[in-house]
Amino acid sequence: MNHVLVTGAGRGIGLEMVKQLLKRGDFVLATFRGTEPPPSLLSLACANLEFHPLRVTHAKDIETLAETLEGRTIDLLINNAGIIGPKHQAYNDMDVSGWLETFEINTIAPLMITTALIPNLTLSSNPRVITISSQMGALNRDAKGMLAYRSSKAAVNKVMQVLSLELKEQGITVCPVHPGWVKTDMGGDKADITTQESADGILALADRLSIENSGTFFTWEGNFHEW
Ligand SMILES: NC(=O)c1ccc[n+]([C@@H]2O[C@H](COP(=O)([O-])OP(=O)(O)OC[C@H]3O[C@@H](n4cnc5c(N)ncnc54)[C@H](OP(=O)(O)O)[C@@H]3O)[C@@H](O)[C@H]2O)c1
Repeated sequence: MNHVLVTGAGRGIGLEMVKQLLKRGDFVLATFRGTEPPPSLLSLACANLEFHPLRVTHAKDIETLAETLEGRTIDLLINNAGIIGPKHQAYNDMDVSGWLETFEINTIAPLMITTALIPNLTLSSNPRVITISSQMGALNRDAKGMLAYRSSKAAVNKVMQVLSLELKEQGITVCPVHPGWVKTDMGGDKADITTQESADGILALADRLSIENSGTFFTWEGNFHEW
């Protein structure tokens, strides 16, 4: 049984990963923002599921989470919480405070959360950190628009690549993963794949990750993604 922490677990890809992990018999630490877990998570309540409040940009929330989990093993941390960014994010029409918020959530929070949970990860025999990134952040893709989102995901890829080197000696595997274009509130109805397909692929990839693959950018199908 793996102990898996999933951020932004109340809907979308995060919620589906929680469902599949529970089905497999893993122990899940699901984080949500707000005072109470959302009904989507409460309806899954069982002995293998714990709820933890976490606004990913709040240092105090991250500190409290780390204190609450002191001495507990985390085999797999999935930095999933993210936002698409502000309505206005064109090169010539940028909502700068929205861009900053996008960076705080998509780029900075995954680093701060991972760092806070290193003591828990090092208790595992195969500790892994997956950060849900996006192909929209890949430098090899030419595409216009969505500057706030694209830059936040390009930056989190770099953060995770550096982190993979920093944490190698401690045996912690770190990989950013593109989850596909997924039918969620963020991805919309026209997206290519369902949350089930995406979560299934990401968890199959997580199962086979080890320190040799650390610092690789993967797709949800388990293929290498160009940076
Ligand atoms: N869907 C796609 O096609 C697609 C493609 C590429 C990458 N991704 C990435 O995949 C991840 C999941 O996306 P999704 O499609 O499942 O999105 P979603 O349905 O919009 O869900 C986003 C999740 O992130 C949480 N979240 C956002 N800001 C947060 C904050 N400040 N603190 C705590 N939780 C926060 C949300 O919590 P609340 O419910 O409280 O808002 C929600 O649980 C994101 O990182 C996204 O960038 C998605």
